[in-house]
Amino acid sequence: MNATALADTSDPVLPGHALAGAAASVTDRLDRPLRDLRLSVIDQCNFRCTYCMPREVFGAHYQFLRASERLSFAQMMKIVRAFVALGVEKIRITGGEPLLRRGLESFIERLASLTSLRGQPLDIALTTNGSLLATRARALRDAGLRRVTVSLDALDQSIFRRMSDADIAVTRILDGIEHASAVGLAPVKVNAVIERGVNDCQILPLVRHFRETEVAVRFIEYMDVGGATGWSKSTVLTAREMRAIVESEYPLVATDSDNGAATSVTYRHADGKGEVGFIASISEPFCGECSRARVSADGQLYTCLFATQGTDLKPWLGDVVPTARLIDAIHTRWNTRDDRYSELHAERRRTGTGKSYPTVRMSLVGG
Ligand code: GTP
Ligand code: 5AD
Ligand code: SF4
Ligand code: SF4
Repeated sequence: MNATALADTSDPVLPGHALAGAAASVTDRLDRPLRDLRLSVIDQCNFRCTYCMPREVFGAHYQFLRASERLSFAQMMKIVRAFVALGVEKIRITGGEPLLRRGLESFIERLASLTSLRGQPLDIALTTNGSLLATRARALRDAGLRRVTVSLDALDQSIFRRMSDADIAVTRILDGIEHASAVGLAPVKVNAVIERGVNDCQILPLVRHFRETEVAVRFIEYMDVGGATGWSKSTVLTAREMRAIVESEYPLVATDSDNGAATSVTYRHADGKGEVGFIASISEPFCGECSRARVSADGQLYTCLFATQGTDLKPWLGDVVPTARLIDAIHTRWNTRDDRYSELHAERRRTGTGKSYPTVRMSLVGG
């Protein structure tokens, strides 16, 4: 099926809606624009990473969303069109594990038929654990996916097993990464969450493995987000510490390639052989420029990864409700946004005032 046939033309709100022209003014209370949408398509995952879905909590009896509670792709299209009308150009598909959602390729095909307010194709990215990527990479690319980020915390099989709590071979993930690169889902990024004493010994092997490839590895500080029941401050290896480990073998040079809203700070290998990034959500929070909205698989809008409550978008998703109403609801919510939880948590930890509290689970709202 070609993209034009799938283009959603039923509701002529785009780009004629009054707000569409005023997209530049969609800012929150801290003057941060709305730029990125992270859309979770399913809350289930075939991994049980200890920092995200520990098996004690997400066991056999855990009540995931029923299929009927999840948004349909038609509802998701309506959401995406509303965000695009508000100026969003970058859509990241997340989960849980998004490749577990049946029909994802045809959804991506529909997404790829949309254009931004500036008339450009959307930047469509996917975050995946890579276990199902090898067989799907080509179809995803053909559907219009631009790039993928693969989570991979270790090359050593037993450490990988310990962190993912899944019976899957590391080679299968590496195969997924290779297929993604080969079909041009570039740049492929690899995300590794580092937990002190568990997989910090994997930093150098990961750097070594990917440094002469097109794949950029990013090391992530372990966060105290919903699901991370084993988190304590002592388990965090800071970005500075991780960088020192990399530099013990591979000198790095700072780059200025990141935009202000980026999560990651990127370095180049001094010998020119690739890039390494660090995501310092704990030690150097980046809320100041945060332009990310998240929508969970059941249609809640979260204005922060650490939010405790979302705004239910479902009342505006019915067929007969004009998209303009949904646009207004999102606009109004974004205007009142003042979240900067990572910064506040950091302050609280420094001053010893208050405690972290349970936030929305990461697997519902996506990483
Ligand atoms: P690009 O689109 O390539 O810029 O990717 P990204 O860095 O926006 O997305 P990715 O999914 O690769 O995010 C990497 C990791 O950074 C996530 O898995 C989270 O651990 C963390 N992260 C992403 N967004 C946020 C955020 O808004 N706040 C915090 N505290 N952490 C975030
Ligand atoms: N800390 C940091 N990152 C996390 N992720 C999930 N849980 C955590 C956590 N506690 C991120 C990882 C993973 C993505 C899907 O979500 O980056 O790759
Ligand atoms: Fe699944 Fe990703 Fe969470 Fe691991 S981090 S349990 S792969 S959603
Ligand atoms: Fe954005 Fe919240 Fe993350 Fe800060 S903690 S960067 S406000 S999502």
